[in-house]
Amino acid sequence: MNADIPSSVTVVTGASGGIGRSLALALARRGEAVVLIARRKSLLDEAVDEITKAGGRALAIACDVTDREALRAAVAETEQYFGPIGRVIANAGGGKRAAGSTLNAEAIEATMRLNYMGTVHIVEAVLPYMLARGQGHLVFVSSLAALLGLPGAAGYSAAKAAVARLAESLQIDLAPQGIDVTLLYPGFVDKGNKKKRKPLSMSLSRMTDLTVRAILARRRCYIYPLSLRLALGLVRCLPAGLRIALLGRFAKKS
Ligand SMILES: NC(=O)c1ccc[n+]([C@@H]2O[C@H](COP(=O)([O-])OP(=O)(O)OC[C@H]3O[C@@H](n4cnc5c(N)ncnc54)[C@H](OP(=O)(O)O)[C@@H]3O)[C@@H](O)[C@H]2O)c1
Repeated sequence: MNADIPSSVTVVTGASGGIGRSLALALARRGEAVVLIARRKSLLDEAVDEITKAGGRALAIACDVTDREALRAAVAETEQYFGPIGRVIANAGGGKRAAGSTLNAEAIEATMRLNYMGTVHIVEAVLPYMLARGQGHLVFVSSLAALLGLPGAAGYSAAKAAVARLAESLQIDLAPQGIDVTLLYPGFVDKGNKKKRKPLSMSLSRMTDLTVRAILARRRCYIYPLSLRLALGLVRCLPAGLRIALLGRFAKKS
């Protein structure tokens, strides 16, 4: 590895926008070399430009996380370009809201492929490198929606719960091999659309600060923000009938 290249290399999937882009920029400001992965290359290039102009190191790789081979190639390219990958943030994900009455297998499969298989693919690609070195850090971006089936989120809640169980299982299996696993359950990010504002949402910068802190501290599990964590905890304690009625009212309102 080149002497002037930072030893800490982080790969972020879903880095062309939203949380992934913001995390990549924040980690680059802290001196990490960052590799930004997503499908929209022009947006990735803009982010890389911003990082390099500020004196950081970054590489853009256009790639679809549902494509297993493409992610293998992206990881190999990163190792060649920057050297050992220290951390992967499996962030690419999302899902459209859909009423349960419109349940559709293709849509649910697509949500699962993006959120769950997309995470499996990047972890599978990087794991042999980390295992060979006996060190590494895997960060899984789940969601508070994984802790409770939310209205209009049948596919998304299930896919994010799958991501969480994957992380928990790997946490146990990989600890003896020197690989840390961080499981994040973020709440809602306020994307500036007043009509679509979700309860107890955070600004992107607050979300980024909290996430970076949790990642650098190598927290095993982080559920945030506290306000939404407590609110969801309370809802989970309600008798099922009351919980369903309450969430149903919330669904009607939003
Ligand atoms: N926003 C929230 O309130 C919230 C709350 C909890 C958890 N989360 C989770 O946090 C993560 C980021 O959310 P976000 O709000 O930042 O989402 P976002 O703004 O919609 O960005 C999603 C990112 O994922 C990328 N992506 C989507 N499909 C992809 C694919 N097939 N292959 C590669 N990249 C793909 C997108 O880039 P391209 O389109 O260029 O590929 C984009 O960079 C997601 O996992 C989401 O589920 C979000």
